[in-house]
Order: sequence, then structure tokens, then C-alpha cells
Amino acid sequence: MSIPIYLASECTPILPELLEREFRLFREPHSSVRGMVTSSSNGVSVVQMERLPNLQIIANFGVGLDLIDLQAAQARHIVVANTPDVLTESVAELGLGLMLATARRLPVADRLVRARQWGKLPLGSQLFGKTCGLVGMGRIGLAIARRAEAFGMKIAYHARHACQVPYRFLANLEELATDSDFLVLAVPGGRAAERMIETRVLAALGPTGVLINVASGSVVDEPALVRALLTGQIGGAGLDVFAQEPQVPEELLNLDQVVLTPHLGSATAEARQAMAELCVANLRSFFAGEGALTPWP
Ligand code: 8YV
Repeated sequence: MSIPIYLASECTPILPELLEREFRLFREPHSSVRGMVTSSSNGVSVVQMERLPNLQIIANFGVGLDLIDLQAAQARHIVVANTPDVLTESVAELGLGLMLATARRLPVADRLVRARQWGKLPLGSQLFGKTCGLVGMGRIGLAIARRAEAFGMKIAYHARHACQVPYRFLANLEELATDSDFLVLAVPGGRAAERMIETRVLAALGPTGVLINVASGSVVDEPALVRALLTGQIGGAGLDVFAQEPQVPEELLNLDQVVLTPHLGSATAEARQAMAELCVANLRSFFAGEGALTPWP
């Protein structure tokens, strides 16, 4: 008899199809389920875990685990697995895309052409020669650094400790913000990084500095960011993630110096297909007694 799995969020159309080939799929919580599939945007609470007494593994569709109660899972010996690596290139490409879109005001330019207002756009700025300051130098941070370097940018980064990478490390986040033209967030969400981008860091980034967030909305003090953009304390922002998705602060909707995307980081056909396959592979390997392929931690 195939193993009962609870699919808590749709994630991507291919996933239920792949799961049904190998497992008995439940779309509602059921006491018999031994595995659960959720996404980084949904997470799993301790209350949900308590309703699933036979739960042995949570397979997360996504790399971010900040909405899963990891301590509760560990206390119940529930394995948690995510989908790192397979989305790195897609998220890094969006990071560069948001840097280019804010620097050249691409959404505004597109709107002006459609409104037949050719040539009304102020001059943009090039990435070449500018400093890309990365907060976080994990897989995604490194992938963005390599791409930014190819654009002729100078790279510096802040992380918990220096990494084996050929870039300038700054232990002090405000110093990195001061030196950066683009401050790019590529850290995992969660308590350690919660609202680490606050007023002092934004002030250090300065009136020509641009904040790019492809990490998690929880990493930024969002009201402070809105104030900084409205007052010109910083020059612009490219934001793919927000504190209360899908809510986006009203004040940001009319700012031309801000580019907004709806959590598209991994939203490519390639990444989502690979994420779905890795999700299923984690369950298959676990129930074959070989452990999950990409377990946390
Ligand atoms: C989501 C993400 O998983 O990987 C992550 O951490 O936040 C995204 O890839 C995706 O948006 C599905 O909800």
C-alpha cells in the first residue's frame, strides 16, 4: 500500500502529479499521513504537526524554512527537507534583473512608451564600476556576486563570518551599506536575520543607494524602508519579498524609484520543475530508509 502524504499547498501543478505516481495523496490533514509537502510561503505550525501524529517528514517546496516551526519538528523527531541549489540561478538572475530595472527605471520606461510619452524618462545609472554589497554569501549570494562581477561591479559582502570567496568581507553591516551602491539581501529569513535592515543601515546606504531584496520580507524593517524611500533617505529599491505577503505597503505603489515583483525568485519553469522533483526525491529516499537527500540542517 503506498505511503500516505499530505499536500498542504499546491506549490506548482506538476507536484501533485509527481506525488500521485508514488504516494497516496491527501489534500486535507489526515491522522494516517507520514509525510507532508508544504512551501516556503506556507510553512508548518506546531498546531498542524499535532494534528498529524504519524508525521515523519516535512518536504518543503523551497529553500526558505522561516515559516516552519523547526524546533517543534525537531522535538517530534520530524525530518525537515528543503530544495536548495535547484533555484539558485533563477533567484540570482532576478537579483540582477531588479538591479538593472531599478538603475534604468525599466517599469517606468515601459509605461511611458505605452503612454506615447517617448523621451520623458530621467537618465538612469549604469551598474559598471558600482559596488554591489551582498548581505549573505551562501549559494544565492555567491551566484549574484559572480553575475555582478561580470557586469564590471565591485563586490563586497557581510555575513556571520568571512567565507572562502575572492570578495571583500565587512564584519560591520553599516560599513557595507556605506560602501554599497546596491545593497543586495541574500540571507535566509528567520530569527537571526529578523529586521536586520533597519534605520541605521538604510541611513548608511544613503540617498543614491538602492536596496534589493530577493531573500525574505522579514529581513527588513519595512516601515523604516517605506520612510526611507518617501523621504529620499535612500535612492530606490527593488523588492521581490515583503513582510506580510501578499500585502505590499500602499505608499510603495506609486514610487517610480521602486520596482516591485510578487515573490518571483524561483518562479521559472526550470526551477519549479527541479524543486518539485527534489521534493518528491526527498520523500522517496526517506521512505526507502536512506534519509532525505537535502535535510535541514
Ligand atoms: C517559494 C521561496 O518556495 O524557496 C524559497 O524560499 O521563498 C520560494 O521559492 C516559492 O515561491 C513557492 O512558494
